[in-house]
Amino acid sequence: MRKKVSIIGAGNVGATCAHWLVAKELADVVLVDVIEGIPQGKALDLLEAMPIERCDVSIVGANDYAATANSDIVIITAGIARKPGMSRDDLLNTNYKIMSDVVSKVVAQSPESILIVVANPLDAMAQTAYRQAGFNRQRVIGMAGVLDSARFRTFIADELKVSVENVTAFVLGGHGDTMVPLARYSTVAGIPITELISPERIEQMVQRTRDGGAEIVKYLKSGSAYYAPGSATIEMAEAILKDKKKILPCAAYLDGEYGISGYFIGVPCKLGAGGIEQIVEIKLTPAEDAALKKSAEAVKNLCAVIGV
Ligand code: APR
Repeated sequence: MRKKVSIIGAGNVGATCAHWLVAKELADVVLVDVIEGIPQGKALDLLEAMPIERCDVSIVGANDYAATANSDIVIITAGIARKPGMSRDDLLNTNYKIMSDVVSKVVAQSPESILIVVANPLDAMAQTAYRQAGFNRQRVIGMAGVLDSARFRTFIADELKVSVENVTAFVLGGHGDTMVPLARYSTVAGIPITELISPERIEQMVQRTRDGGAEIVKYLKSGSAYYAPGSATIEMAEAILKDKKKILPCAAYLDGEYGISGYFIGVPCKLGAGGIEQIVEIKLTPAEDAALKKSAEAVKNLCAVIGV
């Protein structure tokens, strides 16, 4: 039997997740949105591309949650997106209400599912979903690190004029201004970028990575990024659906790892059929550790505002 993935929020990120998911023939898809007609129309449009793409999957759209029953994974993108001048944190109160409502409906239909949270501000929304769902922490995962790392990888590959396939990178911490790109653990064909690029230039690329979301918002004016966020989300979903045991930077609920307890923060996680099967602890320098703690403090402050 094919796997089933539901996507809540059929806007830019949700529809793009559906696109990457079915193009890779990973699962049947259910798209849900509050706006009547949007999920149905986008689902049918995608379905009609499947003969061309030679993919046998079903894609349906709905406004209620019955169609999502017994999903293996539920991806939550529902919420409002940023406009120019807004930070992710400006979305907090609106998206908190949407997330709470969505998660209660999702859990009623798919009590065994794994949740991948995409709505922003990411770490606080993952915390909201975790509290509302009552799932164990292996089954609530936030998408941020794969996207932030992909942005960093893009800039590294462009700087050195090498294949993106050669470049690995790790970005930890919260999905915001305090994210922590780890240059030491970022490599080109196994060579740390600290051996290949000057510290000043690395710092500029790190800053561009931190501002990566805002750079896109500035161009689009009417919304935020969706191609790379969709792609990043589906890399995580694929690792779970195929039980790949793939190590990816994800927002995970920490319970003492990295000296942090009670919050979601971006750390390396092993993703497999069980969701987060392991949180990988790597040695950080005092400066990196301080940056991660600062990032956790920012997440903690946001969570305090909404009381999660
Ligand atoms: N239930 C279901 N869908 C909802 C709900 C709800 N309660 N509230 C809003 N939505 C839907 C909207 O109708 C819209 O179609 O969520 C969708 C959001 O889509 P976009 O406005 O296109 O926003 P998008 O770019 O997809 O971003 C969604 O992901 O990356 C984050 O910061 C981003 O928080 C934002 C989220």
